[in-house]
Amino acid sequence: MAPKKIVVFGITGVQGGSVACYLLEDGKDKFDVWGVSRSKTSAKAKELEKAGVTIVEADLDDPSTYEAALKGADNVWVNANFWLYYDGTNPDEAAAHEVQQNKDVIDAAIRQGVPHITFSAVRDFGDKFPVPHADSKVTIVKYLEKLGHDHALVYAPWFWTNVLLFPRRKEGDKWVVSWPVPDNARIPGFDPEQVGAYARLVFRDPEAWSGKKIFCASDIVSPVEQAAALSEVLGVDIVPHGLTREGFDSPEFQAQLPHELVLNYKAILSIENPKPEQARSLYPEAYYFKDWVANTPERAKAFTK
Ligand SMILES: NC(=O)c1ccc[n+]([C@@H]2O[C@H](COP(=O)([O-])OP(=O)(O)OC[C@H]3O[C@@H](n4cnc5c(N)ncnc54)[C@H](OP(=O)(O)O)[C@@H]3O)[C@@H](O)[C@H]2O)c1
Repeated sequence: MAPKKIVVFGITGVQGGSVACYLLEDGKDKFDVWGVSRSKTSAKAKELEKAGVTIVEADLDDPSTYEAALKGADNVWVNANFWLYYDGTNPDEAAAHEVQQNKDVIDAAIRQGVPHITFSAVRDFGDKFPVPHADSKVTIVKYLEKLGHDHALVYAPWFWTNVLLFPRRKEGDKWVVSWPVPDNARIPGFDPEQVGAYARLVFRDPEAWSGKKIFCASDIVSPVEQAAALSEVLGVDIVPHGLTREGFDSPEFQAQLPHELVLNYKAILSIENPKPEQARSLYPEAYYFKDWVANTPERAKAFTK
């Protein structure tokens, strides 16, 4: 059987790069991987090309630049990025931009006869908890459902790599890290570099995943638990900064974060979170938080800078 042609949007990014990596692992006889990037000459695009990916130089804002590449594809990974358009003040504008890009890809794929579409979704927090960067993904899920075109939904939870971005300070021998959620809040998350494992399941057998959802959270850990895992693996004393729920709800604390993130964390803290069972059974090698730290040694350097 001929290899399946898969077109990956955002291939030089975290999620798209992971999707490419897992597909390439299956071999060229299984998947013919194509990837969309604005530049064929970036280091990442060149690395992917060397690994066997056909890079298409194109812009999500202009479907005429990528539409021809979708011809003959068996499936497409759709993932535009709200955060590239959000400046801290314009959530609706950023969401509209992201929605337009995702809709354009879906429409072009359908015009080109791509039989299946795979969307990188974010959970629906419901009407009580509006979160523009999640609601933009919900808009796309509803769009796909309305179109009735065959699709599968891969839900990305909180990226553990976010931890590396949190402010931290050294107090004596300890590192005090400002997690943006209360110390004991248990948050579902995953290593975003493993999202490709779930996407690959869909690409291997799209009929089986038609209309289905995969929740990729592989562990649920609080800042206290994350700090303990980081301390143990890295051999340095790391503690969270002592945030309580009351502290999280205070205007002083919330004023320190972009409003979009306040809405996101409020929603996560307020409604039931997906359990990791589905992700763990679909991909037993999925990292627990502690494995993720242990298997990515660059964390050590990032934490002691
Ligand atoms: N952070 C979290 O905790 C979290 C959790 C769940 C979901 N998410 C979602 O993850 C998504 C981001 O995914 P990611 O982290 O994989 O993104 P990323 O690493 O920032 O990569 C963005 C990709 O988009 C491509 N791109 C950007 N603008 C483009 C354009 N105009 N035309 C063509 N390609 C363009 C870039 O390619 P080139 O630069 O090569 O063109 C790059 O490959 C967001 O939508 C976010 O909501 C994040």
